[in-house]
Amino acid sequence: MKTTTLGKSDITVPAMTVGCWSFGGGEYWGNQSQSDVNNVVHAALDRGANAFDTAEVYNAGESEVSLGKALKGRRDKAVVMSKISPSNCRNVRKHCTDSLQRLGMEYLDVYMLHWPINKLSMEHFSADSSVLTAPPTIEEAYTQLNELKKEGLIRAIGMSNFGRKQMEEVVRTGVQVDVNEITYNIVSRAIEAEIAPYCVENNISIIGSMGLQQGLLTGKYRTPDEVPGPQAHSRHFPEHRGGGTSRHGEAGAENEIFEAINQLRLIADKLNTPMSQLSIAWVLKKTFMASTLVGSRNISQLETNIAACSYELSDEAEALIDRISLPVLEVLGNNPDYYEHTSKSRIY
Ligand SMILES: NC(=O)c1ccc[n+]([C@@H]2O[C@H](COP(=O)([O-])OP(=O)(O)OC[C@H]3O[C@@H](n4cnc5c(N)ncnc54)[C@H](OP(=O)(O)O)[C@@H]3O)[C@@H](O)[C@H]2O)c1
Repeated sequence: MKTTTLGKSDITVPAMTVGCWSFGGGEYWGNQSQSDVNNVVHAALDRGANAFDTAEVYNAGESEVSLGKALKGRRDKAVVMSKISPSNCRNVRKHCTDSLQRLGMEYLDVYMLHWPINKLSMEHFSADSSVLTAPPTIEEAYTQLNELKKEGLIRAIGMSNFGRKQMEEVVRTGVQVDVNEITYNIVSRAIEAEIAPYCVENNISIIGSMGLQQGLLTGKYRTPDEVPGPQAHSRHFPEHRGGGTSRHGEAGAENEIFEAINQLRLIADKLNTPMSQLSIAWVLKKTFMASTLVGSRNISQLETNIAACSYELSDEAEALIDRISLPVLEVLGNNPDYYEHTSKSRIY
């Protein structure tokens, strides 16, 4: 599998990073058996997809626990990334060592701040007013991360969901940041406007999350009614689709999205390739993308998704997919925060 070195670090990641959000099971993704996780992790390692992305917040730490179990005995073959919540940045060390304990590991390869430190993003992670009213500055948070790096607890430092101004603020701290992990897929193209060019200019690698827009871009849903509530609470869908979990208050772009999916299905049929593979191959065709994050629930999904990484998408097919997804981009706009109303974006 093609690999890329992250920013100025010495860490190399494969074209596809295994998304571990569902590991451990939980409300958002439902049950996830440990035996499927073990199979996915071992098969991924065997096939060169040796990078894994988790976070302290995923299933209240259970994602890290589950990944740690699966990697037992093979940790040295893996690139492990985890994320600290913005509401926990007063004491970065404690949260990092808690993550390491859950993972059963001595160090993380990449440790990222999950969201920028601002009121709205913090509110999503904590209701504790003492935390929300006195957050650390970005400088304080990144200085602490740098200390962990000097001590060898982490090998590289990253950001996640950072916009251009927010990345500039981090860069001004003088701390070396090598990654911005942020949503990118055929129906979530907001980063193309400002974030991707800034990352390229500043040698910050982009790891694109939700490569399949949480299953939507596999073609498994024929209508918006079929999309489960948790996977429909983003701005792609009107507020009511989220089953009470949406908070963006926007009208969504489901007509444009399902039109794009219909056209994608025709292209997939013509090329005799599963839609999921076309979707992943399209992300990987973008030269600003270091690695696409894809969550695989079982070995069969993993095999399909790994095969996509060696699918050679033609320039013509890429341009066609750019074109059919443009109406979605036009409706959703350049706000990379797919969960809040554009006037309240946490990413800027
Ligand atoms: N930094 C951030 O803020 C952030 C945000 C979101 C995600 N992430 C990271 O990105 C990773 C990937 O995103 P994601 O897991 O949310 O969404 P995703 O990768 O776009 O979609 C994953 C889901 O699609 C379905 N799927 C995957 N492969 C399939 C296949 N070949 N055929 C049919 N269905 C398939 C599975 O769900 P079902 O089988 O249940 O349908 C799977 O859980 C996460 O695990 C997480 O590590 C980071």
